[in-house]
Amino acid sequence: MTSQNPIKKIALVTGGGDCPGLNSAIRAVVQTAILEYGISVVGIPNGFKGILENQFVPLDLSNTTGIFSKGGTVLGSSNVDSPFRVPVTKDGKKSYEDHSDKCMEHFKSAGIDALIVVGGDGTQTMAHGFAKKGLKVVGIPKTIDNDLNGTELTIGFFTAVSTAVEALDKLHTTAESHHRVMVVEVMGRNAGWIALFAGLGGDADVILIPEIPFELEKVAAFLKDTHHTRKKYSIVVVAEGAKPVGGKVTVQRVIEDSPEPTRLGGIGHQVAIELENLTGRECRAIVLGHLLRGGSPVGFDRILASRFGVAAVKALMDGHYDSMVAYRNDSVELVPLETGAGKNRFVNPESLFLEGARNRGIHFGDS
Ligand code: F6P
Repeated sequence: MTSQNPIKKIALVTGGGDCPGLNSAIRAVVQTAILEYGISVVGIPNGFKGILENQFVPLDLSNTTGIFSKGGTVLGSSNVDSPFRVPVTKDGKKSYEDHSDKCMEHFKSAGIDALIVVGGDGTQTMAHGFAKKGLKVVGIPKTIDNDLNGTELTIGFFTAVSTAVEALDKLHTTAESHHRVMVVEVMGRNAGWIALFAGLGGDADVILIPEIPFELEKVAAFLKDTHHTRKKYSIVVVAEGAKPVGGKVTVQRVIEDSPEPTRLGGIGHQVAIELENLTGRECRAIVLGHLLRGGSPVGFDRILASRFGVAAVKALMDGHYDSMVAYRNDSVELVPLETGAGKNRFVNPESLFLEGARNRGIHFGDS
């Protein structure tokens, strides 16, 4: 059966911001391709940059041994390179060119029949672009932000949440000793998944997410009240994309050539300063930042990556091209690749998760 299959050699790329669990997915893809289907795998170094540079490295059972539990990606990644928009400077003038046809030639000359792309919305957009050019492509969703459309979970999310919860546990003790308000900024771009789950798991008093614009006067009133009635310290979790009612997100930097140029950050410090003024209580801010992307994947992310890796190879071998494996209703399914391409999934403010948090007395800055 395998001999009749048009796919004999697949390429694998990890694109966008890294996260824990990418190596688990790489290992699972390699194992399934070789042991179940008898086909070979090559890795593309440094995200889509490697395709532009015509670089491929053989992956096998031996050179992927020991990577399953390792954080990051042994292939490297990039969140600034797109083959569809390559910056070129001619006569001192900068413009952008589409080099995707050149990449298609690179795939052909390397004898690659299909591509598995492990990435978030930006990376899956490029994957879909190659699928439209006739390449056999399947996507695997990853991002600590958990904001990819079409899947309820992405690789890396639960590790980021675990790291944040561990940090919150530590901040509780020092906040309690000094009767302070600790404001903890977490990543997540324009979605509040990390902040929400970290705040729920880390017993935060206040959670500010992009999906619910906040009013700091209301937060301050709540903190003053809890200070009198419940406890002498408070934990406030702020998503990097959180914004005040009628206000804008806080931008840390703009990376011009990146497919998604805006990098958020800084709202935590602003919130801490304003809350100190409004409450008269001592506030401190901490930014967890890239710590959330580091370290070994938790067990759940390894298992999710394993299931996605196996399903992605199977999808290719069964001819389900231009699709993405997705976690839905407790099972792994296939969705059209364009479902995840360039589209995000946000926290529903009316969801049971939010309702449950409000039932516990957690404040979202809006009431
Ligand atoms: O998408 C993952 C993510 O970590 C976001 O949460 C964050 O906004 C962004 O990437 C940071 O990107 P960079 O690594 O370029 O600073």
